[in-house]
Parts: sequence; structure tokens; C-alpha cells
Amino acid sequence: MSAMLKVQVWRGGADGAFEAFEVPRRESQTVLDVVTHIQRALDPTLAYRYACRVGMCGSCAMTVNGAARWTCRTHVDKVAKDGRLSIAPLRNLPVIRDLVADLREFFDKWARAGGQFRGARTKADDFARVSPQSDARQLADAGIECIGCAVCYASCDVVARLPAYLGPAALNRAWTLVSDERDAGGAERLRAVAGDAGALSCHTHMSCTERCPKNLSPTAGIAGLKRAVARAALAGEL
Ligand code: SF4
Ligand code: FES
Repeated sequence: MSAMLKVQVWRGGADGAFEAFEVPRRESQTVLDVVTHIQRALDPTLAYRYACRVGMCGSCAMTVNGAARWTCRTHVDKVAKDGRLSIAPLRNLPVIRDLVADLREFFDKWARAGGQFRGARTKADDFARVSPQSDARQLADAGIECIGCAVCYASCDVVARLPAYLGPAALNRAWTLVSDERDAGGAERLRAVAGDAGALSCHTHMSCTERCPKNLSPTAGIAGLKRAVARAALAGEL
């Protein structure tokens, strides 16, 4: 293990540039540890974002040696090439400053895809009982652990080409709710994901599924949405 890492860090906004730092190697060092060392010991003006440090909040995602990753769960040993790291903000999102991407459009798309649960019951009703073994429950469970980190979104070639595309995370959320038998969003949500910016624009490149740190498959969810949209269209419900 060489004693120092050579680290290129993005500085500034979209028209910024990489700046070089040297950071001491440590045992079990994560990429987030490297960024934190730079901010605490070398340049306190470096902007970056994190919260939990344990892979729960999703806020520490950045582009590391060209690929989107959670930096708190990425060990330097796994990604450093010849003792070198390049760290940049997530792609497909505006840059606020340095390593901080602006996630507003990402989350606005969740809302546009009908990502809010719509219940049909009132507080006077009994709890819904959904068998953990039922097919619908298992379909809903498959995508529900998404933590909104935007790694999939930053890795998606369709978002890069078609900025209005709702993207894998918002569509995964929509599919989770379509599969949730308690949800009453119905045809309205399917209409929200049926247009040019919706599920039909997915080219099944699988980058989202390959990169998702939670091992979710937005690709499978999007395929489910395509089928549901086609069925609803044939039934005249859209
Ligand atoms: S689907 Fe995976 S990669 Fe995409 S936002 Fe959710 S947890 Fe992150
Ligand atoms: S800091 Fe929360 S997932 Fe990395």
C-alpha cells in the first residue's frame, strides 16, 4: 500500500475543474474518509454532503473513478487505481458546488411519477391486512428499500440524452405503488408514467440495476410499468 493517495477532486460548479490533493492511506479507509480528510485537514472550503456514514441516508453519493457510488460504503482499496482517485459530483444533475449535486429535479420527478402513496381508507377503518406471501406484496417489497440516493439516476444513459425522462428511481417508486394493493392511485399514476418522459423511454441498458447499491432492479420495475401501461391502454383506461 503506497503511503499517500493522489486524489483529483472536482471544485466549483459545472464549469469548474479538478484540483489535486494528497491524502494519507489508512486501513479500511472509505472514499468518504478521504473527502472528509481533505475538508478537515487541507481545505475547509470543500463542499460535500453526507449524514449517516452507514449506507442508510443516500446523501453521500458521488462519482468515483467514473462511476456513481455511495462514498461511505466504498473502500479505497476497491476503487483506487495505482493509488489514484478521482471524485466528482453525481452526473445528470446540476452542480451546486464542488461535490454537491442539486437533487431537486430528481425528487420533483418522484412527485411527477405519482410517487406518493394514495390510501383509500380512513382512520376509522381497520388496518389493511396484506399477506407477506402474496404475489402483490412480494412485487411491492422488491423495490421498497430504495433510499433515494440517485446513484441509478446518475448512471442512466437515457436521463443523459433525454433530461425530461423520469428516471429509474422515480419509476421504481411508481411501480412499487402500482404493486401495493392498498394504494388507490390507479390509472392516474399509470398516465403519469405513460408519456414520452416515462417508462416507455427506458432502453433496458440496465445501468441502474448494475449500479444500485441496494441491489434493487429498477429495470424490472420499469418493465412491470410498461406491461401495466399497455394493459391499461388496451382496456381504454388511459
Ligand atoms: S433505486 Fe437504488 S440506486 Fe436508485 S435511488 Fe434507489 S437505492 Fe439509490
Ligand atoms: S452517508 Fe448515508 S449513505 Fe453514505
